[in-house]
Amino acid sequence: MPIKRFGVSLEKDLLEELDKLVKRELFPNRSQAIRFLIRKNIVQEQWDTDRLVAGAIVIVYDHSIQELHKRINGLQHEYNCLILSGQHIHLDERNCLEVVAVRGSASKLKKLANKFKALKGIRHSELVMSGMD
Ligand code: NI
Repeated sequence: MPIKRFGVSLEKDLLEELDKLVKRELFPNRSQAIRFLIRKNIVQEQWDTDRLVAGAIVIVYDHSIQELHKRINGLQHEYNCLILSGQHIHLDERNCLEVVAVRGSASKLKKLANKFKALKGIRHSELVMSGMD
């Protein structure tokens, strides 16, 4: 893609925030940080649409809670049309990490992630999505 240049005028405090972001996230320069922010914003806007996105649902849960593993497994069977693969990692004697790779419309993936979140005993559940174009 050809690169176009444009000038940006920013208030001093906003520019300081941008430079902090560059430093914190190890961006090579301000342009890269601005690119990242624009793309992030576009992806977030796509979350409520039917655009095709890919991502992962990351779940941490206590496997000693009765039936929880079964429920998580059941959801994965029920929504196999959105799920590409799953990985289960036994973190320690109690905790399990489940990484579920997903692809589908953003709104459907969000609903699916919320179903995992709603299961009793889930410690953490997060959906990460990325646009595919
Ligand atoms: Ni486990």
